[in-house]
Amino acid sequence: TSKDILMLINKYNYLSEDYVPENLIKISSSYAYQGNIVREDVLESFIEMANVAREEDIVLVINSSYRSYQDQDEIWNYRKINYGTEKADQYAARAGYSEHQSGLSIDIAQFNSKEEDFENTEAFKWLSDNAHKYGFILRFKKDAEDITGYSYESWHYRYVGKEVATKVHDEDITYDEYYAYYIENN
Ligand code: DAL
Ligand code: ZN
Repeated sequence: TSKDILMLINKYNYLSEDYVPENLIKISSSYAYQGNIVREDVLESFIEMANVAREEDIVLVINSSYRSYQDQDEIWNYRKINYGTEKADQYAARAGYSEHQSGLSIDIAQFNSKEEDFENTEAFKWLSDNAHKYGFILRFKKDAEDITGYSYESWHYRYVGKEVATKVHDEDITYDEYYAYYIENN
């Protein structure tokens, strides 16, 4: 957590049960479905990004953002009960192991879209070309399950700041790799 927006959270690096980000803020209903809260710095960048996308008639909204340790525990257990432990671990993080607890991750949807698969939306296409300019990266890339530990999630974006996001995007790597190459071994 001393790395702040660059902290690595994955199946090997977890947050303590009582970790709560300091600068959490409510997201207005223009930018999120109800009840979402997130880190203030992340929200500022999201709004900047969403306003540019709106000029191109793409309405990005936040579906899920900060989740407490307890919220995440419920999510994982729900998956486990319904789909079994192996499947639960593929799609959801166990409590403490989710980036959502850091307040740095958001799940994005396209407002009013009838498309069930986010990957097929205009919003996803737009984000693939532009999210890094606002500091966001696609955290669980396709065909990177062996590195990230999770199945592909076209909707889950992680805030790392513009400079790092641009490097991760341009090199087409996961954040786990970025961290190993440029932070941990530096
Ligand atoms: N779906 C991601 C892995 C999470 O639960 O944090
Ligand atoms: Zn997510």
